[in-house]
Amino acid sequence: MKRILLGIILVGIVGLIGGLAWAMRYPALDPIAPIDASMEFDSQVVALGRDLAGFGDCSVCHTDPRQGLEYAGGLPLETPFGVLYTTNITPDVETGIGTWSEEAFSRAMREGVDNEGQYLYPAFPYDHFTKITDEDMHALYAYIMSLEPINYTPPENELGFPFNIRLSLAGWNLLFLDTSRWEPDPTQSDEWNRGYYLADGLGHCEGCHTPRNLMGAEIPSKAYDGAIVEGWYAPALNDETTSAVPWTQIALVNYLLDGWDVDHGVSAGPMTPIVNHLYDLPEDDGFAIAKYIESLRPNLPTEAATAELVAFAAEREWDPENPPSYDDPGLQAGVEAFDDLCANCHKVGGTTVPLALTSTVRMPEALNVMNIIFDGVRPPLGARDHSMPEFGASLTDENIADVLRFVRVQYTNLPAWEHLEEIIAEKRENW
Ligand code: HEC
Ligand code: HEC
Ligand code: HEC
Repeated sequence: MKRILLGIILVGIVGLIGGLAWAMRYPALDPIAPIDASMEFDSQVVALGRDLAGFGDCSVCHTDPRQGLEYAGGLPLETPFGVLYTTNITPDVETGIGTWSEEAFSRAMREGVDNEGQYLYPAFPYDHFTKITDEDMHALYAYIMSLEPINYTPPENELGFPFNIRLSLAGWNLLFLDTSRWEPDPTQSDEWNRGYYLADGLGHCEGCHTPRNLMGAEIPSKAYDGAIVEGWYAPALNDETTSAVPWTQIALVNYLLDGWDVDHGVSAGPMTPIVNHLYDLPEDDGFAIAKYIESLRPNLPTEAATAELVAFAAEREWDPENPPSYDDPGLQAGVEAFDDLCANCHKVGGTTVPLALTSTVRMPEALNVMNIIFDGVRPPLGARDHSMPEFGASLTDENIADVLRFVRVQYTNLPAWEHLEEIIAEKRENW
């Protein structure tokens, strides 16, 4: 009996040591001497790297708009586990990644481990960047190493126990990280595969559009089902979409590159910086991403069903000659607020997309319409004339709730939004 117990304990200890050794298997990589990127890298490679960094939105996360130091980090990312600050990825030797070899850089991008061998948090989308090809990784490294070094140390992370122990991420990687190389799908066109590569890898579109599990990992069976991120709803892009008119490749190109489409409306919130990058990037690649995203929804509604929604949208558009009226006093208060503040622009014959056609009013969450009422719309670069003023200061929380209830009833036949008071109070607190 004793022998068996001893055996079990021994096996346990060996297992534990083995596990720890496995988790700690990443060595620190030797620092390199500062490199003169203009000598080291071909300017065309650097230019390619700049485009790739645009697709990967590196600067969106690695820049704190309050500091304005591009790529120097410090942007706070709110996670369910605490606040994480992005790192300085300029080639500064002291505070950035100036001493990182290309091997260290690509290990971080593919395996989520820094030059010291420490695990990085998956708020950094290395679970997508792992799909980047060697050639593209080299170009990205060349571009990042060509940036102006900035001496700036971002704030310390504010994570509670046990999330502050980086070693625990070994388990996360074991469960959720798939470092297998990206493979094209031979049954699809080159254009589709290019879009798949960009959207799935560098673009990490799923990073926002897919719900996550309790450990913060994307749920593969729910890819592109839609999820809440940064106080916004990143809507479903697959068969779960609530978009009224199906997204065609052309509509997606309009939306993704210019930020506005006549059948779908404007792109707002955390989608805006993504669109601003795509605006500047090679157009063929934009078309490719659109091709891939279009294919996420194989089961299209019938033409009759779409025509019905389009007719509904036209019929429900605000008519100044004949404004809607409701018996419910709350809804009627919403009608009056809308009449005062919104109907000037959102009306029959106006220049905006009929509200009932926009995904925004049809989403399962009120967050995006609420954010737009509070903050207005600062549209992406390609849609500058589609801006809307903010109303957060001029409307009370009750007014906003009334408008939201009215908008949902007037412009959709979908179930009422829930928890309006809570989300408005939370927004107001941080406004
Ligand atoms: C969604 C936000 C986000 C995006 C987009 C993003 N990063 Fe990061 N990145 C992070 C965070 C957060 C960390 C720090 C993780 C940690 O501290 O564990 C990080 C860490 C890194 C590191 C490790 C640096 C260090 O000092 O440890 C590198 C290298 C890096 N990112 C490069 C990139 C590149 C290149 C891109 C674009 C292709 C990119 N990142 C895009 C959030 C992001
Ligand atoms: C940082 C998070 C984030 C990332 C990354 C992201 N999106 Fe989005 N996306 C959003 C949010 C939030 C919205 C809703 C915007 C709105 O309501 O105006 C959105 C909206 C969209 C829409 C409009 C859908 C509809 O029915 O209205 C499309 C299409 C889209 N995203 C495609 C993409 C693609 C393609 C990528 C990758 C290249 C991507 N997104 C990456 C957050 C993100
Ligand atoms: C000065 C004109 C103006 C006013 C006033 C205005 N809006 Fe807008 N609104 C716009 C424009 C422009 C857009 C961008 C979409 C477009 O051009 O089709 C927009 C977009 C929106 C969207 C997002 C639709 C989409 O494309 O996804 C919602 C929801 C919305 N407005 C609601 C309101 C509400 C509610 C009010 C009143 C509290 C209001 N707006 C007042 C001009 C206005």
